[in-house]
Amino acid sequence: MINFDYLIISQVEVNLNKSKGDIHIEIKNEWINGDCLKELKKMDAESIDLIITSPPYHNLRVYSNDPSDLSNCESYEEYYYLLGLVITECERVLKPGGKFVMQFEDYNYTVGRDNKMGQESLTGDINKIFLDNNFSLWTKAFWRKYSAQRAMLAQGNLYYRNMKARDTILAANVGFVYVYKKSGNCELIKASDITLEEWADWADGVWNISNSGIGHTTPFAEELVKRCVKLWSCPGDTVCDPFGGAGTVNKVAIECGRNAVGIELNKEFYDLGNEKRFNLWDNSIFESDDSVEKMKERFEAELLAGKEQSANAKAEKAEQKELTQKKKDIRAEIKELENQLKALGLKVKKLRKLKKSLQEEKIINGVFRDSSREDTIHKNH
Ligand SMILES: C[S@@+](CC[C@H](N)C(=O)[O-])C[C@H]1O[C@@H](n2cnc3c(N)ncnc32)[C@H](O)[C@@H]1O
Repeated sequence: MINFDYLIISQVEVNLNKSKGDIHIEIKNEWINGDCLKELKKMDAESIDLIITSPPYHNLRVYSNDPSDLSNCESYEEYYYLLGLVITECERVLKPGGKFVMQFEDYNYTVGRDNKMGQESLTGDINKIFLDNNFSLWTKAFWRKYSAQRAMLAQGNLYYRNMKARDTILAANVGFVYVYKKSGNCELIKASDITLEEWADWADGVWNISNSGIGHTTPFAEELVKRCVKLWSCPGDTVCDPFGGAGTVNKVAIECGRNAVGIELNKEFYDLGNEKRFNLWDNSIFESDDSVEKMKERFEAELLAGKEQSANAKAEKAEQKELTQKKKDIRAEIKELENQLKALGLKVKKLRKLKKSLQEEKIINGVFRDSSREDTIHKNH
C-alpha cells in the first residue's frame, strides 16, 4: 500500500461501489509538490502498478533553477546519473511485472546548449539505464504528434527557403512510447477494461494523436495517457508520474478509475494542476457502481465476444478455402475437357487424313471415282 503520511494536497477519495456487496474500489488522487527522487524514497516498495512519465531532457529547455531539476543539469553525465537514480527508485516502488511507460523523443536542434547541431537521441542511453535496473523492453509505440506541414510552418529549419542541399532535415514530429517491464509477473486477479473497439485501434504500433494539453510547455496528450493507463493497468490499480508537469497522468488515471500519485518539482506547474484540474473536482464526478466483480463480468463478456469473433473469422476463412478449392477443381475440370476436346480434334483430323489417304489409294485402285478428275477421264475416252 502507498504510504499516505507524506501527502500534501488535494486528495480525493472515491468509493466506486457502495451499492453492491462485492469488493468496492477506492480511488485516491495524490498530487505532490517536491523532488521526485526524495518523494519516491518515502514510498513503500512494490506499491505502484504502473509508471507513466515524460522526463525533462538534458539540453533542450530548463524548467527552473532548482538544483534538483533534471532539466537544469551541468552536463550530459550529470543528467543521466540523476535520471538513473530516479529510475532505480521507480523500480523499487513498482510491483513485480509492473510497467514503466517512458515517453520521450529524439529532437532536432539548430544549435544546442552544447553547440552541437543535428539531432539528439536519448534512446540508447535511456534503454541502457532500464536494462541495468531490472527492466526489459516490453513493447513500444510511435506517437505521431502533428503533421510535417505543421512543423514546416513553425520550425525555421524546415522552411523551404532554409532547406540546405545535402543537409536536409525532416520534421521531428514523432515521439516514442517505450514500455519497460520490471522483472517478475503481475498478479492476475483483476480484469482489463479495454473494449474490443479500443483494442482494435490501439494495437497499432503508430498512434496518431494530436498534441494538446493545458498550460504546461510540454504537456502530455490526454488520449495518449488514457491508452497507456488502460493498456497497462486495471481499474483500482495505482499509477504514478514522477515528473508530473500539470498533472495530466493524475487526471486521466482518476478518470479511468485508478489511483494516482503525481510528483512535480516546479511550484508553478504544480499550482497549475490544482487550479485547472484538481481544485475543480467534485467527488460525484467519480461516482460509479463499478466493482471487481463487474470488471470480471465485463472481461468475460469481452473474451466471449472475442472468441465469437475469432470463430466467425475461422468459419469465414474455411468457407473461403472451400470456395478457392471449388474454383480450382472447376478450373481443372475445364482444363481436362479442353484436353479431351483437343485430343478429339486431333483424332478427327487424323481420321480425316486417314480417310483421305484411303480414298486416294482406292481411287488409284479403281474402287472410287475421282470426281475432280472426271472431266479428264471423260475427255480421254
Ligand atoms: C516534460 S515535463 C512533463 C509534463 C507532463 N507530462 C504534463 O503532461 O504536464 C517534465 C516535468 O518534470 C519536472 N521536473 C524536473 N525535475 C524534477 C524533479 N527532480 N522532480 C519532479 N519533477 C521534476 C519539470 O518541472 C517538468 O514539469
